[in-house]
Amino acid sequence: MIIYKNNDEVNLMRQSALLVSQTLTEVAKVLRPGSSTLSLDKMIGEFIRDHHAIPSFLNYNGYPFNSCLSVNDVVVHGFPNKNELKEGDIISVDIGVILNGWHGDHAYTFAIENPGKEVMQLIKITKESLYLGIEKAVAGNRIGDISYAIQEHTEKKHGYGVVRELVGHGLGRSMHEDPQVPNYGKRGTGAKLKEGMVLAIEPMINLGKRDVYTEDDGWTVRTKDGKPSVHFEHDVCVRNKKAEILSDYSIIEKAEHNNPNLFTATALTTPCI
Ligand code: MF3
Ligand code: CO
Repeated sequence: MIIYKNNDEVNLMRQSALLVSQTLTEVAKVLRPGSSTLSLDKMIGEFIRDHHAIPSFLNYNGYPFNSCLSVNDVVVHGFPNKNELKEGDIISVDIGVILNGWHGDHAYTFAIENPGKEVMQLIKITKESLYLGIEKAVAGNRIGDISYAIQEHTEKKHGYGVVRELVGHGLGRSMHEDPQVPNYGKRGTGAKLKEGMVLAIEPMINLGKRDVYTEDDGWTVRTKDGKPSVHFEHDVCVRNKKAEILSDYSIIEKAEHNNPNLFTATALTTPCI
């Protein structure tokens, strides 16, 4: 069942999304070679609680941490640990909060120093695909229009692997609501989009093949071929003319640009969106 949000509810969800963006910004400020993902997770939990919210991932289906920190070939749901990040690593930082009863849930992939041209290009294209999907999140379209736009840009145009096992989702008083939002699919298929639907759109794109497996811990999803994977996620409200992005990458990107330890995909070429 799809739950539509009125403007008051969307305003509250914007606050939840913004707190996630602010938390991601704090991460962007401190990331460096030598950071342990466990220390980042601790910082994330404290920042969220300091802002009168709850880290929603903690204890979700038994998930044991505040955040999902997925390094290199980890696609999503990576456990924070004591290992230190090193030059050339990429890390998807995925954070969720509950603020005033409403969920925010999004993710950003950072490059620690230089992971090489190929991986920077994967980051750039994955981020672009997210915005191409968002452009389709307009009333009257269908879920498949979002899915198709993402798959077209990443798989068809650039030959990357689109993960099939994990999908985006509706967002609201629960973290996972209907409808599912796959990153692959056919135009004109799936649920019809209507004003007030709030979606977490989240391409998970592999440099190599699309195949993934889950580790014995029951969570960590890795690429089968061991090649890196990139993940970006925005919280988006379907509107009649133009999708409204509730999360705010601009503050994250500013911190990313100001942190000399982070390489930014947009420094390679001007973003085309
Ligand atoms: N952003 C992810 C999702 O949309 C993270 C949730 S997994 C959790 O599914 F268990 F950590 F909560
Ligand atoms: Co999500």
